[in-house]
Amino acid sequence: MTRVLFICLGNICRSPAAEGYFTHLVREAGLIDKIHIDSAGTGDWHVGDPPDPRMIEAALRRGIDLRTLRGRQVNAQDFRNFDYLLAMDENNLRNLNRLAKPEERERIRLFLSFAHNDKRLEVPDPYYGGPQGFEDVLNLVEDASRGLLTHIREKYGL
Ligand code: 4NP
Repeated sequence: MTRVLFICLGNICRSPAAEGYFTHLVREAGLIDKIHIDSAGTGDWHVGDPPDPRMIEAALRRGIDLRTLRGRQVNAQDFRNFDYLLAMDENNLRNLNRLAKPEERERIRLFLSFAHNDKRLEVPDPYYGGPQGFEDVLNLVEDASRGLLTHIREKYGL
């Protein structure tokens, strides 16, 4: 089993979108029994909350249902359990590296390092912006998710 954790600040916008879209891709590829997928936030404000309604709407328009997801905060066990801890931005990355033990840090990286079509390395936080921000998040998530799946398939021979 390969384990992937997507991480943002609140776990109600960016990382649930990544969890939802990547799960969709993995299911389509017939690999849902081989890849475990989850998401979490570095902050604790939205623990137990569903994703932001604006993110739910934007994802639903692309056929991705995020309504059953609930916010949780990243914890010490995550650093032991996951093969990939994928940060949405540099701030998340810094916080994760601060929380992790030195030997756990090599499994932490920026999610967009797997994107092929966009040169940006950070998924911008859409929380305080307009609707276009949520579309931008989904475009970035789709791009990097495809790259991540290709990478995992090659690395693990799936
Ligand atoms: P996310 O967006 O990190 O993509 O889930 C945010 C959601 C909530 C807050 C910040 C960012 N907040 O400050 O409550």
